[in-house]
Amino acid sequence: MGKGDPRREALFEAAEQIKRKAATTKDKGFRVVITGKGGAGKTTLTALLAKLLKREGLNVLAVDEDPQINLPYALGIPPEQEIIPVSRNIDYVEEKTGARPGEAWGVMLTLNPDVSDVVDRFGLRTQDGINLLVMGSVVQAATGCLCPENALLDAIVRYISLREGEVILMDTQAGVEHFGRALAQGFSQAIIITEPSFNALQVALHSAKLAGELEIPHIYLAVNKVRTPQDREKIYRLGGEKLKQFEEIFFLPYDERVLSTEPDVSPLIGTDSPYVKEAARIKEALLQRA
Ligand SMILES: Nc1ncnc2c1ncn2[C@@H]1O[C@H](COP(=O)(O)OP(=O)(O)O)[C@@H](O)[C@H]1O
Ligand SMILES: [Mg+2]
Repeated sequence: MGKGDPRREALFEAAEQIKRKAATTKDKGFRVVITGKGGAGKTTLTALLAKLLKREGLNVLAVDEDPQINLPYALGIPPEQEIIPVSRNIDYVEEKTGARPGEAWGVMLTLNPDVSDVVDRFGLRTQDGINLLVMGSVVQAATGCLCPENALLDAIVRYISLREGEVILMDTQAGVEHFGRALAQGFSQAIIITEPSFNALQVALHSAKLAGELEIPHIYLAVNKVRTPQDREKIYRLGGEKLKQFEEIFFLPYDERVLSTEPDVSPLIGTDSPYVKEAARIKEALLQRA
C-alpha cells in the first residue's frame, strides 16, 4: 500500500476518529492490562483472573491482544472452534457492506460511536459467560509498516477501555511494544509478570517504567513459577529500589497442575492449587482498587 492509498487513509481516519472520541470520554475504573516476557505466564493468569472475577458476579470482557491467540483456549474455548479476530473482520466489514475500502469503518463509527458494538459483533462468549474479544494482528512487511489496520485495532482497544459496568482484562503479546502504541492507554491497573530470572525481571522493570509514564495508577508485580524461598530473595536482591514502582508484589508458585491442565485453566478453579490461591489475592487487590 503506497501513500495516497484511499483504504489506508480511510482506516487511519477511522482510527483518529475513535481516538478523538475516546479523548472526550472520561476513563472509568476497572481496566487491567497484563504484560511481561514471553512464557512468563500472562495468558494463564489473565484467564484465571477473568474466571475468578466472573465468579464474583462481575461482567468480564477479556481482550486478547497477542497475535498468537492463546487466550481463548486458556478460557476453555475448544481448540476446534474457529476464531476470527477483529483484524480479519476489518476486511469482512468492508466486503459485507460493499463500501469503498476503509469507508465502512468510518461509517460504522460515525453512526455508532460506541465501539462496544465491536464486542457484540465480533466477540465470543465462553461457556461460563465471559466475553472475549480477539484482536489478531496484521501481517507486517519485513521492512515494517505503519499499518493502518494496527492503528485501528489500537484505537478500538482504546475505546472499549471506556465501556462501563465491566471489568476489562487485556492479555498482551510479549515485550513492551503495546506501551509504545495507544493500546495500554486508559487502563487503570497493570499486572506485570516475571519469572524469577534476571532477564524476565529486566523486561518487567522496563514495563513498569513505561506503565508509569502512561500514568496507569496501580502497577503490580507478579512473580510467577516461584519454586523456592531463594527465588523470592533473588527478586528482592535484583530488583532493589526499583521494586518501589510496584504497589504490591505477588508470588505465584510453580504448580504442576497448571501444566497438566494447560491450555485450559478451568479445571484449576475450586481446587486447592497454591497458584489459584495467590491469584485470588491478586483478584482481591484488583477489586480493592476498582
Ligand atoms: N505457575 C505456573 N506453574 C507451572 N506452569 C505455569 C505456571 N504459570 C504458567 N505456566 C505454564 O507456562 C507456560 C507459559 O504460560 P503462558 O501463560 O502461556 O505465558 P505467556 O502468555 O506469558 O507467554 C504454559 O505452558 C503454562 O501452562
Ligand atoms: Mg500468552
